[in-house]
This record gives sequence, C-alpha cells and structure tokens, in this order.
Amino acid sequence: MMKFLVTGGGGFIGANFVRLALTEGWGTVLNLDKVTYACHPATLAMLEQLPNYQFVRGDVGDRPLVQDLLQSFQPDAVIHFAAESHVDRSINSPQDFIQTNVVGTANLLEEVKTYWQQLPPGAQERFRFIHISTDEVYGSLGPEDPPFREDTPYAPNSPYAASKAASDHLVRAYHHTYGLPTLTTNCSNNYGPYQFPEKLIPLMICQALAGQPLPIYGDGQNVRDWLYVEDHCRALYTVWQKGQVGQTYNIGGNCEKPNLEVVQTLCDLLQTLLPRPHLNYRSLITFVSDRPGHDRRYAIDATKIQRELGWQPRETFSSGLEKTVQWYLAHQDWVEAARTADYSAWLVTHYGSVLTHRP
Ligand code: NAD
Ligand code: DAU
Repeated sequence: MMKFLVTGGGGFIGANFVRLALTEGWGTVLNLDKVTYACHPATLAMLEQLPNYQFVRGDVGDRPLVQDLLQSFQPDAVIHFAAESHVDRSINSPQDFIQTNVVGTANLLEEVKTYWQQLPPGAQERFRFIHISTDEVYGSLGPEDPPFREDTPYAPNSPYAASKAASDHLVRAYHHTYGLPTLTTNCSNNYGPYQFPEKLIPLMICQALAGQPLPIYGDGQNVRDWLYVEDHCRALYTVWQKGQVGQTYNIGGNCEKPNLEVVQTLCDLLQTLLPRPHLNYRSLITFVSDRPGHDRRYAIDATKIQRELGWQPRETFSSGLEKTVQWYLAHQDWVEAARTADYSAWLVTHYGSVLTHRP
C-alpha cells in the first residue's frame, strides 16, 4: 500500500481526495491539518470512519512536527493541499496567507528534502511531492485571450494568488536545485461536497436554503472555469501515478461561466429540487460592491494533462452541480454546524447587513 502524507486533508479538496484515496484503495493516509475555520469538524468526523486513516492536528510550518511525522510515517508521497485559500480573506488579512502559503510551504519543503535525501535508493526514486496550486497565479484574461497554459507567465493579482505563486516558485526551485521530485498542478475553480460556505457556490446554496440574499459582486460577469472536485482529485491521482517529475500540469473543466449565470442555474435547480411556496430563488439575487482587484476571467487549457496523462473530467457542469446541490440538501446538519459565531462574524464583516435582509 502506498503511503500518502496529505496536508490540509480536512479542507474541501483535501477531504474529497482523502475520501477517494481510502474508498478506492489508492493507499493509506496520514492527514496533517491545522484545523482552521475552513476545516469543518463534521468533515474530520466523516474521515475518521474510513480505514487506513490517521489524523494529526498541526501546522505545515512546524518543522519539528513535520520531521517527526515524516520519520514515523515514512510516506511515499506528500500531497500538499494546506493553504489559506479564500481570496476575500486574503484582502482582509494577507499576513495569514504569507505565513501558511509561503513560509509554511518553505518549511515543509525543507523537511521533505531532508527526509527524501536519506531514503534508500528505491524509495527515493519512488517518492513524489505533489503541490496543489491554482490558476489564479496567471492573473486575469481578457474576453478574447486564449486560456492559461503551463507556460503562461505568472501575474498574480490578489495577496492569495501572490502567496500561491511564491509557493509554486519555491517548489520549482527545490526541484531545480536539489532534485526533489516535485510536481505542481494549477487548477481552476472547484465545486462539490464539503466546500465551506464562504466560496461562491456553497455560499449561494446555503443562503438560498435560508431564504436569504445571494450576493453577486460587481456586474456578475466575471468568468470562472468550473471543475467538479472529484475530477480534480482523480487528476491529482493521475499526476501522482504518471506525471513527469519537475513538470507542472494545468487542470480545468473546460467550463467557463459568468458568475451570474452560475447563480441563476443554481436557483433554477433549487426551484426544481426544493420548490417552496412563495419563494422564487432568483428573486434573492442581490448585486453588491465588487471585490477589490477582482480578476475578470480565468480559463484553463488542460490539453497537456489530457494528452500526456490521459486525464479528462467525468462530470459536466450540469451533472456536477446537481450532485453538489443534492449533497448540501442531504447534509443540512453539516451546513448548520458550519454556521458558527466566527462564520457569522465573517459574513457581517465582509457583507455588512446585506445578507441578513430579504431583498
Ligand atoms: P480549504 O480552505 O477548504 O482547506 C484548506 C485546509 O488547509 C483546511 O483544512 C485548513 O485547516 C488547512 N490548513 C490551513 N492552514 C494550514 C496550516 N498552516 N497547516 C496545516 N493545515 C492548514 O482549501 P481548498 O479549497 O480545499 O484548497 C486546497 C488547495 O487547493 C489549496 O492549496 C488551494 O490553493 C488549492 N486550490 C483550490 C481551488 C478551489 O477552487 N478551492 C482551486 C485550485 C487550487
Ligand atoms: O480559480 C481557482 C480559485 O478559485 C482557488 O485558487 C481559490 O482557492 C478558490 O477560492 C477560488 O477563488 P475565487 O475567488 O474564484 O472563488 P470564490 O468562490 O470566492 O468566487 C468565485 C467568483 O464569484 C469570483 O468571481 C467572485 C464571485 N463571488 C464570490 C463570492 C464569495 C461573488 O460574486 N459573490 C460572493 O459572495
């Protein structure tokens, strides 16, 4: 059995990866997670039910802890998801992003390098460090620009994107300088089960279920390229199995949509799945102030991973969105438990009174 040390496995994508890895028998997992606000206790509880799973609460930047875990667990791969990941929060508190995404990744790399260097030859050959990054490092596209490729120059615009770009450069440098067998993936917007309800799709589902306003930034015409989370996780497994060391792979759903269209589609789906007397979900849509520095358009050219590694998404936006909505409808206890005092405080800080008043 392969042994994966997963960082940030209590978050959205990490938890989906760990669940798939354990249910599909990809290997055993040690999950190292700091349990920030983005790590839902009920998600951790779900993971605890799975076989071949261990959990340690801790920080990727804590070098003695990481050293101990590497020595005791002896992983064949480190899958590095842990990050501060919400652009809006990075605008409010950039230091947290620099600490975890840049310093934390730097500390992790240093310990992983030391561990990898003392592995026996076969294990050293087999070892991989997979760094999970984002399309946001490439900046913003104009309406007619071609989608981001692996050789698109970096132009990060938010503190989040800049911190992820810095971590990508560190990973690249550890491969180039020390030969550490790294692979980096840059993925577009994910959606699916277990996503904390502060990102667009789960926020809109939770607000709609509560009959509360659906806040759209600016004119709602910013475009994102959507990918169902399990497709992302399977792409990462493929990169681990077949990817060429030192390479980067862009991952995307070939599914560009303006935000307003995403939210309208969601409203129409809820209208079918959960009709309520006197509630037209679309009427909850409320335009609010734009995000500062809001990137206009992201789009991924995923030709490389498709051609070289044979990966492509299984879900369409329509099938993935329906699965997502069905999951949130079936897990309203998870949604309720996410509504902590901290969560409400974030909504008030960020949106003011907009979210609590019926439009
Ligand atoms: P998330 O915010 O849902 O989860 C992050 C997890 O990391 C949480 O469980 C949190 O507790 C943990 N964490 C944070 N700081 C930590 C630290 N210092 N040490 C250990 N654990 C820590 O994030 P996500 O959406 O699952 O994203 C996972 C990764 O994928 C991130 O690196 C992100 O940049 C990248 N990514 C996300 C998307 C997306 O659409 N969500 C798209 C592309 C890439
Ligand atoms: O592109 C990949 C990135 O996707 C990941 O690297 C990030 O970790 C992830 O958070 C996501 O970033 P975005 O900023 O694109 O995601 P978010 O869900 O915050 O917003 C998606 C779009 O919806 C964006 O254009 C902003 C808009 N939006 C978002 C919120 C929360 C709104 O219009 N209203 C909202 O309330």
